[in-house]
Amino acid sequence: MRVRATTDSPPSTDADTIAIGVFEDEGVAHDYPGTLQALVDSGEARRGLRKLAVTHAEGRRYVLAGLGARRDFDPERARVAAATVAGRVRELGTKVLCWEVPHHVGDAVVGGLVEGTVLAAYAYTEYKSAADEDDGLESLIVSAHHDVSTPAVEAALVAEAVNSARDLQNAPANVMTPTALADHARTLDGVTVEVLDRRGIEAAGMGAFAGVARGSDEEPRLITVRYEPADVAGPILGLVGKAVTFDSGGISIKSGLKMSEMKFDMSGGAAVLEATGAIAHLGLPVRVVSVIGATENLPSGHALKPGDILRAKTGTTIEIVNTDAEGRLVLADCLAHAVDLGAERLVDVATLTGGIVVTFGKTYAGLIGNDDAWCADVAAAGERTGEIVWRLPLHEEYAKSIEGKYADIANAVETRQAGSIAAAEFLHKFVGDVPWAHLDIVGTAWDLGRAYAPKGGSGWGVRLLVELARVNGGAPDLH
Ligand code: BES
Ligand code: MN
Ligand code: ZN
Repeated sequence: MRVRATTDSPPSTDADTIAIGVFEDEGVAHDYPGTLQALVDSGEARRGLRKLAVTHAEGRRYVLAGLGARRDFDPERARVAAATVAGRVRELGTKVLCWEVPHHVGDAVVGGLVEGTVLAAYAYTEYKSAADEDDGLESLIVSAHHDVSTPAVEAALVAEAVNSARDLQNAPANVMTPTALADHARTLDGVTVEVLDRRGIEAAGMGAFAGVARGSDEEPRLITVRYEPADVAGPILGLVGKAVTFDSGGISIKSGLKMSEMKFDMSGGAAVLEATGAIAHLGLPVRVVSVIGATENLPSGHALKPGDILRAKTGTTIEIVNTDAEGRLVLADCLAHAVDLGAERLVDVATLTGGIVVTFGKTYAGLIGNDDAWCADVAAAGERTGEIVWRLPLHEEYAKSIEGKYADIANAVETRQAGSIAAAEFLHKFVGDVPWAHLDIVGTAWDLGRAYAPKGGSGWGVRLLVELARVNGGAPDLH
């Protein structure tokens, strides 16, 4: 979708549809055709969030969009309002939509209107033979009295990165293999990409990652993406993503119920890849090293077995209790690798535990980390993007729960108590002293159920990571 900003009034653009937001207790800011306020006064156009009224005047379509109370209005409500409009105008066959930006709102609301539109217009139709002839909305114009082109264009760029992450997620596992994911990483502009294959992963001493990959004939890939802008100091941001392109559970095989959803087990890796691409595209002043561990987790005659012991890159030995706790094995070596490559702040994004959905449903993602200031930065970034997170604790008693019987640590706790935290305690062993925040996204990675997130992959995390990089480009002092 093409997105541009203008200071021209909406009727002087070539839009076939004009969207105008109306706050509760306020009138229509500009009643261009002179018929819109009457719609509000008659009660036909309602002003609550998600309410819409459509009318035609002077050869165009006008959509009056309820925005709710002005004091409650924020970027998330702007996303929802814009997504609601995008859904309706798609049905109506709109090609060029112009949003009139409400008076007295900030750049973040402009960004929200753009994101809500671009994200809601997404559909995954790659394998639908009878895909809609109609390509949907072609172009979005945001009109304001002052120049909003920077927030509009940047929001569009980041929202397109979210949609690219959704494409990676929604692609089936027979197509989106570790090799395909690495090939996609090589198409990102402005970054350098290094890829290790099975032999390279083994040669690097990443016995935990290699152990998971052993069960599949599909080659694993360790993907390292670096963005190194010139003349930028400040801490190196390390982003780590779990990209298990299909998680059958391995020998500890999952039940068949919804197993097809396990193609989404690469969602963290997809978010990290696309966020890194967007950070580079925006030219943000922050150095980034991203590490994505891509593999399948399958049962076979070569597969990892319960009772096996692996040696991770750090030398730590790991006893396998459950081969379905594979994500932490992959991430252990990826986190250690990011630290070795110089990461000074870490965020990992992973569909790590089913337990996190029991805790938070689809509203919050889980946040667990070893540094209060860094966790607060990550949570604040998510607050701004609507990808909200809630922190759970680490504690030495949880760390004790993953002590190994025969090796240093075990990859799962048989009691299944505090499973999401136990998984994080496992990761904690591999980050050294680096400030680290772990995001468990099983609940939010797909079928998010927000107005701007169609079913399937949600691209959750891309916007949060970009926002974090934006703010931390200035190298704040944490300690
Ligand atoms: N990829 C799964 C997490 C998951 C569970 C994603 C349900 C989507 C839906 C992860 O690899 C996993 O299997 N975790 C296990 C860990 C357990 C065996 C300790 C879990 O959460 O059940
Ligand atoms: Mn698993
Ligand atoms: Zn998994």
